[in-house]
Amino acid sequence: MISIKTELKDVLSIKSDALVIFIPSDEKNSKAAKRKLETLFGKSISSTSLIDVTGKTGETTVFYTPESFASKRIILTGIGESNKVTLEYIRRAGATAAKKAQEIKLSSIAYILDIFDNGNLPLTDSYEDISCAIAEGAVLGTYKFATYFTDDEQKSTHLKAVSLIAHAKKYLKEIEKGTNRAAAICEGVYLARDLGNTPGLDLYPGTLAAIARDKCRKAGCNVTVLDEKKITSLKMGGVLSVSKGSERLPRFIIIEWNGGRRSEKPYVLVGKGITFDTGGISLKPSANMAEMKMDMSGAAAVIGAMMTVAALKLPVNVIGLVPACENMPSGKAIRPGDVIRIMDGKTVEVDNTDAEGRLILADALVYAKRYKPKAVVDLATLTGACVVALGHYATGMMGNDDNILDALKAAGDRSYERVCELPLYDEYEKLIKSNVADVKNVGGRWAGAITAGWFLKKFVDEYPWVHLDIAGTAILEENGDYTQKGASGVGVRLLVEWLRSV
Ligand code: BES
Ligand code: MN
Ligand code: ZN
Repeated sequence: MISIKTELKDVLSIKSDALVIFIPSDEKNSKAAKRKLETLFGKSISSTSLIDVTGKTGETTVFYTPESFASKRIILTGIGESNKVTLEYIRRAGATAAKKAQEIKLSSIAYILDIFDNGNLPLTDSYEDISCAIAEGAVLGTYKFATYFTDDEQKSTHLKAVSLIAHAKKYLKEIEKGTNRAAAICEGVYLARDLGNTPGLDLYPGTLAAIARDKCRKAGCNVTVLDEKKITSLKMGGVLSVSKGSERLPRFIIIEWNGGRRSEKPYVLVGKGITFDTGGISLKPSANMAEMKMDMSGAAAVIGAMMTVAALKLPVNVIGLVPACENMPSGKAIRPGDVIRIMDGKTVEVDNTDAEGRLILADALVYAKRYKPKAVVDLATLTGACVVALGHYATGMMGNDDNILDALKAAGDRSYERVCELPLYDEYEKLIKSNVADVKNVGGRWAGAITAGWFLKKFVDEYPWVHLDIAGTAILEENGDYTQKGASGVGVRLLVEWLRSV
């Protein structure tokens, strides 16, 4: 990950490969910004060379500075219309500039923040939040999964350092807070993306548990990993039956962060950790099956969030639970029609072995009860139906508690990892009725995301609970402003933003 610094310096003496300056696109503010550039940089930026600079989002323009400047270049990055600027546009503009720097092989850039000074833009966000957004954009925008390349050019990341420049001393502290928060968040997102992108050959329940233990312990959490023996003695029938077809034994990972008072009940985060989903005996078609290496994205979000929560020393108690299995077909695998028993004793008819996520989550939701949690939030790449419903720009959300649903909606809007509620109406319950067991693991053709939610609800105790179906938002088909094709690491920023607010 690139390093993020905060510095108090005047523009002349900042030493970097490029100064980054934000440009709005509306007439009035764009003109003012350009006039300021001309005064500052003299004839190296003339009004004619600025004609093509529109300030639209996604646009960058590179200029060279006069000799009197310690930085060689200027990158102008558009943030769009002044009165529409939000933290998300700032995040994107931060990313656009960093990606440009990466492309032209610069190793350091310095963001100039004075456009965000009082009154310049109709923004009410704090300098801390603005700085956090810029740094997030820079770091997340330049992520690359390079573990398996052997070619130096593919492996290399040119951009090494970004700094955010405070133009007045009174802003220094706030900017520092913002960049420190961004650094902790981005470490979590990078970990989640790396875990998602790592192939099933190398990432399986045992290695997932080892990485979670290592990273979260270093951040200050307690980590316990339950092996197959312990999982058997706990009678976690969902975890045991899903992993039966695989040579790789399951794990149940427990991560604890005690930042709150001892007496305070914890929030519990649950992440689906299917390290590879072939579908099992109900085998998936081969097209795009490789994507199913990312079927542990819920687990990755929980592990990344726990690491970040600890790094930020948030004053709350949080437990992360990750049931981890590989879903494989074999002579030992469970078959359609089998009836299994979840940890609470309820029986499930496994009509389709490809609806495996809900089986392992059921055990985790039952296990969560022992903490008497303030709330439980589960994240899972649970259904293709959710991708059909919402595509890649919103996470499907269901739950039983309006306060938690509202808080997650708000955190989603602020972090821009947005969630959209789907209804758990009573009528949907009958779709998962079984003739031979307490419940069936599939609900037929319609409302697949909701019947999956309803299945989970059967194993939720009295506690407030929210289910997040991240099937569409965790696995991306193309690059975005600060996301790349592959694992997005979605959920880390959402969970951290929510836990910061509770
Ligand atoms: N991991 C998949 C869901 C999924 C699909 C995630 C596409 C991301 C992209 C899940 O285990 C699954 O296979 N779900 C089935 C459920 C069905 C059998 C009821 C599905 O969605 O087809
Ligand atoms: Mn499946
Ligand atoms: Zn799955």
